[in-house]
Amino acid sequence: TAVPLQFALYELGRNPEVQETIREQVKASWAQAEGNPQKALQGVPLLKATTKEILRLYPVGIAVQRYPVRDIILQNYHIPAGTMVQACLYPLGRSREVFEDPQRFDPSRWRSRQAPGGGGGAREGEESAFRSIAFGFGARQCIGRRIAENEMQLLLMHILLSFRLSVSSCEDIDTTYRFILQPETPPRITFSEL
Ligand code: HEM
Repeated sequence: TAVPLQFALYELGRNPEVQETIREQVKASWAQAEGNPQKALQGVPLLKATTKEILRLYPVGIAVQRYPVRDIILQNYHIPAGTMVQACLYPLGRSREVFEDPQRFDPSRWRSRQAPGGGGGAREGEESAFRSIAFGFGARQCIGRRIAENEMQLLLMHILLSFRLSVSSCEDIDTTYRFILQPETPPRITFSEL
């Protein structure tokens, strides 16, 4: 969670308008929740979409793998049982065929007609929960998912309530794969007290 949080703070810092829109939602929800952080999280769909959007652009685990237990046909390819099949999350998240304007950090893309757990892509009518599989899927999906999401959203909520984030350079962050996808060098982010 520490790594996607770094990416999240950086993207919020270099997209001040997005940051401000989310902050407005967070402030309103926080005021209504009377100091109850879990209640406040219920009223911030944009913040939840932010963690989803960050994991689309910077998937912690870059692939989800399965060994089919029986032969299957996938898009006309015959895959024998026992073959490792990988869904590569990095190119999936940045594919034009799947997401409109894929390089753009835009949490609101997840707001649309909502297929369960998914939605928000380029082609209407073809939305699929499998656009968002940073935590895997099915019986073996990440068992820490809810803890991870909760932790990231709580931290971002508190930061947005207290600080304005900015960055001195808007360049893309170079990434490297060391067990998980990481920034090549730690992004520099300025926190200004609100
Ligand atoms: C942003 C944070 C995280 C991401 C993106 C992530 C992602 C993933 C992914 C992709 C898998 C493989 C799922 C599959 O094959 O369908 C996985 C498995 C797993 N994760 Fe996470 N994870 C995160 C945080 C955590 C945390 C905080 C914990 C523990 C508290 C955790 C515990 C596990 C465990 C135990 C498995 C293996 C589940 C199994 O094989 O049945 N993860 N995670």
